Amino acid sequence: MVQIEYVKKLFSAFKSNDKEGFLRTAEEIIEDEHKKKHHALAEELQAIINRRSTNAASGMALLASQPEISIDQALLFQRIYPENQLSRVILSPENKEKIDQIIREFFRWDVFESNGAYPIRTVLFYGPPGCGKTITAKAIATELEVPLLYVRFDAIVSSHLGETASNIRKVFDFASKDSYIILFDEFDAIARSRNDESENGEIKRVVSTFLQLIDNFKGHSIIIAATNFEQSLDYAIWRRFDSTLRFDMPSMLDRITLSNLKLRRYTGSDIDMDEFVAKMDKFTFDDVERAANEVIKKCLLDVRNTYTQKDVENALDYQKRIVSLRRTQYEPEGKAL
Ligand SMILES: Nc1ncnc2c1ncn2[C@@H]1O[C@H](COP(=O)(O)OP(=O)(O)O)[C@@H](O)[C@H]1O
Ligand SMILES: [Mg+2]
Repeated sequence: MVQIEYVKKLFSAFKSNDKEGFLRTAEEIIEDEHKKKHHALAEELQAIINRRSTNAASGMALLASQPEISIDQALLFQRIYPENQLSRVILSPENKEKIDQIIREFFRWDVFESNGAYPIRTVLFYGPPGCGKTITAKAIATELEVPLLYVRFDAIVSSHLGETASNIRKVFDFASKDSYIILFDEFDAIARSRNDESENGEIKRVVSTFLQLIDNFKGHSIIIAATNFEQSLDYAIWRRFDSTLRFDMPSMLDRITLSNLKLRRYTGSDIDMDEFVAKMDKFTFDDVERAANEVIKKCLLDVRNTYTQKDVENALDYQKRIVSLRRTQYEPEGKAL
């Protein structure tokens, strides 16, 4: 597209307050510049788009104004400032709609509260590993322009129930001073290591303490719990979350879309994707991304912009071996992931 057309599109997106449209056009321009091999300019534009605030000085001020994390707290959680764009995450239409709603409600938080309504505050992400739970939580934080508090569930679980509750309280005490996405990741980490009957009871108590505490938390933050192990969560738990999102294995079309997205800065010479479809059977999104990264690394090492049939084949074969190893290791009965 000629530059003036881009400028028109940017102006009209600005005029109609269409942030998504603006970003889409900005991305098209960046892509275009990459294609023209103006990589430095493209990177510069990308950096401007990624930046949280309009100038670096106020960005630094934002970081400096964030409360410090003590050593004690650092054992329980990390604070991160993600830069993952939601538009780069492949989502089912249903999840996309639910996430749009979470985002819209967050921005209308005060209006909701002053009308006695609550925005969505607690969310459950579930589904097989490598299908986008963590990256989606990060992308939501990016979209809301809030930091993410990353809490690994096993780091807060102690053999003393009282201590587990006080660890969760410590996370919430910290979070109550600001707005965050609080991600309790790997809900299943505890479930996996304890599978006898008595310990099962203990997991249930830990989870119900967790749920009570999140119910009582009144901060201006969204709490996301993510688990790979939804079989271990009973129906009562489901009902306790304001919104639940299932992250499924990718369809074949999703896999191809993701490979194209990852390889968009390179050209493929005579690639017949149909030939590779079978090789990607059982691939998670993460597997597809890893295979695409292998192809990119090969191109970078050989200093070329074009990848070959052979590059793709090697990368897929390599990742396929990992996938089958994982399946025999974790699923001796060949259960679906
Ligand atoms: N739906 C998706 N769309 C695009 N990339 C994805 C998706 N799911 C996973 N990925 C890629 O795989 C990586 C691992 O995914 P992750 O979100 O950590 O999976 P999970 O938390 O479900 O185990 C991500 O960093 C991302 O690069
Ligand atoms: Mg994860």
